Amino acid sequence: MAPGVSKTKWHGNGSSFHPETPSTSPDVTLCYEGKRDEAEILSTPPALTRPIWGDEQACNHLYYGDNLPILAQFLQNPSLCGKVRLIYIDPPFATKSVFKSRSQRDAYQDLLAGAHYIEFLRQRLIFLRELLADDGSIYVHLDENMAFHVKVIMDEIFGKSNFRNWITRKKCNPKNYTRKTYGNISDYILFYTKSDHYVWNRPVQPWTDEAAQREYQYIEEATGRRYKKVPLHAPGVRHGETGKPWRGMLPPPGKHWQFTPQTLDEMDARGEIYWSPNGNPRRKVYLDESAGIPVQDIWLDFKDAHNQNIKITGYPTEKNADMLNLIIRASSHPGDIVFDCFAGSGTTLEVASQLGRSWIGIDNSPEAIRTTLYRFAHGTKPMGDFVKNSTTQQNQPNLGLFRITDFALHVSEPYSGDIDELIVQWQGWLQ
Ligand SMILES: C[S@@+](CC[C@H](N)C(=O)[O-])C[C@H]1O[C@@H](n2cnc3c(N)ncnc32)[C@H](O)[C@@H]1O
Repeated sequence: MAPGVSKTKWHGNGSSFHPETPSTSPDVTLCYEGKRDEAEILSTPPALTRPIWGDEQACNHLYYGDNLPILAQFLQNPSLCGKVRLIYIDPPFATKSVFKSRSQRDAYQDLLAGAHYIEFLRQRLIFLRELLADDGSIYVHLDENMAFHVKVIMDEIFGKSNFRNWITRKKCNPKNYTRKTYGNISDYILFYTKSDHYVWNRPVQPWTDEAAQREYQYIEEATGRRYKKVPLHAPGVRHGETGKPWRGMLPPPGKHWQFTPQTLDEMDARGEIYWSPNGNPRRKVYLDESAGIPVQDIWLDFKDAHNQNIKITGYPTEKNADMLNLIIRASSHPGDIVFDCFAGSGTTLEVASQLGRSWIGIDNSPEAIRTTLYRFAHGTKPMGDFVKNSTTQQNQPNLGLFRITDFALHVSEPYSGDIDELIVQWQGWLQ
């Protein structure tokens, strides 16, 4: 679709005016059975949690238990409520599947579907909005099953105007489907912020020689600098300085100069304007002034474990650590709190640690907690190692990422199984 003209600039010819066009557009909402009132959700009884390892004052916290009552507990904690700078969640996707780890241990179930699933996630998202700082961001990772419904729910909770991107991620290599459809290789990340003023460290990719030569085709004779030519005008009529003639030329109809005539003179004096043989000015944009290629909303380089070289924990549906690295650097600063309440194998938590952020993670799967502890104590392993015998796996070097004083592990009570046995088991992973 071609770019349109802003409706405030549309003058029309009278005949195309539709008097029935409403002046405001009511928001779209999703209706389903069992949709609870926000106030009722926010009065969820908070969890009782107890620390079983580490110090309450630690900067990083991992919680074992259902995230909803734990979120309700965080809401009452003034050092957390409204203080979380970045949330990334990768919840179950409503796949109606159960997941096992690579070593065939039960990991988690993903059996909720339809309205039950939407309401499950909506309740958590309402708490997450409350925990988010005013300049915070939330990224929700989903696939085609539920992404469309959850987009409407997130518009309701965070406000449509706080929607930033629908990111498409290539999740795996091409599939050789026998069924009659296109190969399904993408999933989606919905990016919202709490407000208009949010932390944003624009991510860029370095230029490759090939891309730089394609984009910046010209070389300035005097300096040897590579540059491209871009228009000197922009859409929209202006009546101030930038709408006036420059060197006897008016900007093209419907446009204005990007700079005042005085600035254009100064740029020309510095040699920053290219004049075509028929006298059209263009602005020179230099490659050496570009920080890189701004990252767009289609991500092709963050497939999950797909070959023998990628290092993983073996937890199912574990996400690519480089993708979390991009998200965390873009939407937080060192020292900020990064939060993941569907933490799984701890990818968000480990990358947050590496980037000097504090983190809080929650998961209700003992296998997820075990995997996260092992990951912090011993690191990840190349995917191929999972086919070798277990003694090889025990000999992993301690990466030194994990310092016991930095970290507290909490359990949510009451726990129906034998929690003490579980604790002994987990502690074993930290030795
Ligand atoms: C898709 S996995 C997350 C994987 C993670 N991003 C990673 O890189 O390893 C979803 C996780 O959500 C957890 N989960 C599901 N329901 C939960 C709940 N109500 N409370 C806490 N965790 C939950 C599951 O145990 C599972 O580990």
